[in-house]
Amino acid sequence: MTTEASPALSLLERSLDRLGERVCLVGHDGPMPHWPQCRVHALTTHYGVYRQGGGADGGRLFGYDDPETPEAFDTVVILMPKARSELTMRMAWAAARLARGGELWLVGAKREGIARGSRQFRERFPAAFRIDSARHCQLWCATPEVPAAPFRVGDWLDSVHLEAPDADLELYSLPGLFSEGRLDEGTRQLLATVTAEPPGPVLDLACGNGVIAAWLRHYWPGLAVTLADVHWQALRCARASFEGLEGVTVVASDGLASIPARYASIFCNPPFHQGQKKDLDPVNQWFRELPRFLEPGAELRLVANAFLPYQDPMARFIGPVRTLSDDGRFRVYSVTRSIHGKNGGN
Ligand SMILES: C[S@@+](CC[C@H](N)C(=O)[O-])C[C@H]1O[C@@H](n2cnc3c(N)ncnc32)[C@H](O)[C@@H]1O
Repeated sequence: MTTEASPALSLLERSLDRLGERVCLVGHDGPMPHWPQCRVHALTTHYGVYRQGGGADGGRLFGYDDPETPEAFDTVVILMPKARSELTMRMAWAAARLARGGELWLVGAKREGIARGSRQFRERFPAAFRIDSARHCQLWCATPEVPAAPFRVGDWLDSVHLEAPDADLELYSLPGLFSEGRLDEGTRQLLATVTAEPPGPVLDLACGNGVIAAWLRHYWPGLAVTLADVHWQALRCARASFEGLEGVTVVASDGLASIPARYASIFCNPPFHQGQKKDLDPVNQWFRELPRFLEPGAELRLVANAFLPYQDPMARFIGPVRTLSDDGRFRVYSVTRSIHGKNGGN
């Protein structure tokens, strides 16, 4: 979480006297603002931000179906998400939570795509107008007159059909999900290296909608799998895909922070971006911590862009590394946790 107010939030603060009493910031991952005249909630889709920000007691809401969400707000402020489809979903959520006579705001910076976002906002709310602009940021307002339809996550969950190596899978997607329901090329390559049942229990780390776990269970339905991700969309889709199935657990976890056990196999197509920026630090930190979550002799099977320098830290912190496949773009590694690992103990 950053500690400074973003330029978009600073712009919004120039219009504080216009805010209603009950305010929700949709997509705000920074520190909670202290606006004495308002009761502020902030909706995030990042579980780490939710936990670090004090959870429900800190006024945080996790995702678009958090049961702690108040019935209505006087002002709902939408911050620009990365995906256009998520902005559509945010607008629907915001309109559904708006009190009668309330205002919907949209705020964002040029580099976050506010020009495109404001067009989308005006298409949905034709009477929208601009309140302010400065420092490459814009603030827009709409006052919908007609009450909006209730927001139901199920209306946004799409079932998707993935053609994975030698298996057709039915999974779910939501706006803002990684790769929005398409099979990632790196993931395809990782799955193609799995030729025998991996020892369980298995962890699908950074699971997205659960495609790796779904593929494994397609071949070995009795395999015990845990899926973990930090993003609400990923968790919601994974839960929908595996609903009612025995031997499957889905956990919200920022990296390894909430991983509950040790595993005989871990599969991972890790993220290497934080927001818009390339950032390898979190994954290097995972490598340091992973031995504690691998049984001695257990395997981490990981796919990454071939140019990413993961081989050395994996060998240093976990154990011997073999390259199982490399097409120049993606590389799949098999890393065995040393029996006498430095960080894992026995
Ligand atoms: C490259 S995608 C892989 C998704 C899925 N396993 C697949 O193969 O399609 C990386 C995933 O990492 C998740 N992620 C990003 N930061 C994370 C974090 N700090 N902790 C856990 N998961 C994270 C993202 O939400 C995303 O689902």
